[in-house]
Amino acid sequence: MPSSALINVMLTAARKAGRSLARDFGEVEQLQVSLKGPANFVSAADHRAEEIIHAELSRARPGYSFLMEERGEIKGDDPTHRWIVDPLDGTTNFLHSIPIFSISIALEREGELVAGLIYNPATDETFTAEKGKGAFINDRRRLRVAARSELAASVICTGVPHAGRPGHDLFLKELRAIMAASAGIRRTGSAALDLAWTAAGRFDGFWERDLRPWDIAAGMVILREAGGYMSDANGKDRILEEGTIVAGNETIHAKLLKLLKAAGANATPEAKAASAN
Ligand code: IPD
Ligand code: CA
Ligand code: CA
Repeated sequence: MPSSALINVMLTAARKAGRSLARDFGEVEQLQVSLKGPANFVSAADHRAEEIIHAELSRARPGYSFLMEERGEIKGDDPTHRWIVDPLDGTTNFLHSIPIFSISIALEREGELVAGLIYNPATDETFTAEKGKGAFINDRRRLRVAARSELAASVICTGVPHAGRPGHDLFLKELRAIMAASAGIRRTGSAALDLAWTAAGRFDGFWERDLRPWDIAAGMVILREAGGYMSDANGKDRILEEGTIVAGNETIHAKLLKLLKAAGANATPEAKAASAN
C-alpha cells in the first residue's frame, strides 16, 4: 500500500535523523578505545537526531505540539495534534556498538494515537501504521502478529530493569513464571523495536514495566494495526499512564497476563511498591 501524506512526513523526518544516527554510530566504534568512553558523544548524537526530527515535523506540520524524550513537552498552536518522539530508543546498545536501536515517532490526534513509525537505521527497516489502515514493513509487506497459541512454542520478549530502575524483585518473579512456560525469552534493548517485532510476528509476546510514552506510543499503533492485543499489567488500557505493557495475539496476551498477575500476587509488598514507583 502506498504511504499516505502523513506517513511520508514521518518517514522523511525519520530517514533524515536516521542518516545522522548511522553516521554517529560509525564513529562510536572508534570512540570505544578512548578512556573517557563515548557517553557524551552518544548523548550529542541523540540530541542531534531529536533536533532534526523536530525541525522536519515542524516544517511539514506547523503548529503541532510535541512530547520528546530530550526536550519534553512543547506546546504548539494546534493543541489537537501531538507528536510523541524518541529520537534514539536503544541508547545502551548504541553506546556499545550493538546495531539494535530505533527512532520512534507517533502522532496523537484529540488524545488518540492515530499513526506510528519505528525505523532502525542499522537494518534500514521501517515499521509504519495508521489507525484503520493496517501496519506495514518497508511500505510493502503487511504486518500480522504471530498465530501461535501455545506459550510453550512462543518466544517472548521483555525489558530487564537495571541499575537505577525499580522493580528488580518483581521482574525476577515474572521472569521465572514466563521462562518456565515459554520456548525462550529475548531482550533487544529497544522497547519500540520489541513492539514492532511483535507486530511482525518475530516475537509472540512482549511485556515490560517502567516505560515512558515515547518508548511505546508508535509501537502501540503498529501492534494494534497488526492485529495485536495489549493492556497494562492489570488487564486495563492504562498502558501509557502506568508505563506497563503486556502484548501479543489475543491468546498469548491473555496467557501472559494470567502468569504475570499470579507472579505479582506472589510478590512481596515491597516488590510491588517498588514496581509502582
Ligand atoms: C530504553 C529502551 C529499553 C527499555 C528501557 C528504555 P532508551 O529507552 O526502550 O528497551 O528497556 O526501559 O528506557 O533509554 O534507550 O531511549
Ligand atoms: Ca526509549
Ligand atoms: Ca531515547
